Amino acid sequence: MRFSGKRAVVTGGASGIGRATALRLVEEGAEVWIGDIDEAGGEDVAATSNGRIHFLRTDVMKVEDIAALMAAADAAGGLDVVFNNAGAGGSRDPIEEISAEDWDRTQALLLRSVAMGIRYAAPLMIARGGGAIVNTASIAALQTGAAPTAYSVAKAGVLHLTTMAAADLSRYNIRVNAVCPGFITTNIFTAALSIDGEKRAMANDMIRGIATHAQPLQRAGKAEDIAAAVAYLASDDASFVTGTHITVDGGMTIGPRHSWDAEAPSLFSALQQFAS
Ligand SMILES: NC(=O)c1ccc[n+]([C@@H]2O[C@H](COP(=O)([O-])OP(=O)(O)OC[C@H]3O[C@@H](n4cnc5c(N)ncnc54)[C@H](O)[C@@H]3O)[C@@H](O)[C@H]2O)c1
Repeated sequence: MRFSGKRAVVTGGASGIGRATALRLVEEGAEVWIGDIDEAGGEDVAATSNGRIHFLRTDVMKVEDIAALMAAADAAGGLDVVFNNAGAGGSRDPIEEISAEDWDRTQALLLRSVAMGIRYAAPLMIARGGGAIVNTASIAALQTGAAPTAYSVAKAGVLHLTTMAAADLSRYNIRVNAVCPGFITTNIFTAALSIDGEKRAMANDMIRGIATHAQPLQRAGKAEDIAAAVAYLASDDASFVTGTHITVDGGMTIGPRHSWDAEAPSLFSALQQFAS
């Protein structure tokens, strides 16, 4: 019960990583305010929590929505924890084609939203003597090949924002950290596709199949894997941890595929065959 008597905000709490984290925080004693544009999903999560999760329709592209979400949790007794997590895939256009408008929209959704989440949480936390903020970055912040360019650059920005905010806010006893998920089976991959229920279920099955073999640990990454890391970073167990990130990716960023997959082609296996 690491969050007994604490109040937390989770953006993107209607689905996937945000939903799992809201449920985990409640399981450990917190009262949680989730903000999302998905009203049906948000109400659904709230309905499963015995009144411990409150849903507020929140578009993280809108600063006034973010401020209202933080204020709602604070008004109930003080804001202790914020998980800036809402997001989507953003523009898939390559750098030689992307428009300035699509670039800006992706940065606003994935980076400005986190900056404004910190901006509007910090004064409330300063007033009560401290708090913990966790931001969702991605392994796409660390390397190429995980996501499109605009998304990856925004997530790299989230990582540096995390360190800058940690430095600025440490004097107020506010810790700021990030989590870098690998391939996690949530709705994010199909959310932007206009496909119906059955086709969507088939696409999600296919994604789960790919996810099982996408990294050294041979199982699909789950939203609950990320929730566990976020709960640690947000808790007093991490009271001496700030300005850093935890990568939760089943080993995906360990190194090239041939270093962990005996079937993958490599120079060494080619030479071995040549020599034998
Ligand atoms: N799933 C992965 O493999 C993975 C990997 C790395 C990082 N991430 C990041 O994790 C975070 C959560 O994604 P997820 O995988 O749980 O996906 P998801 O689609 O299951 O959940 C994302 C949630 O964010 C909400 N959202 C989208 N735009 C919003 C807006 N403008 N305002 C408020 N809410 C909005 C969606 O409605 C949804 O409920 C995202 O920031 C994503 O970039 C996911």
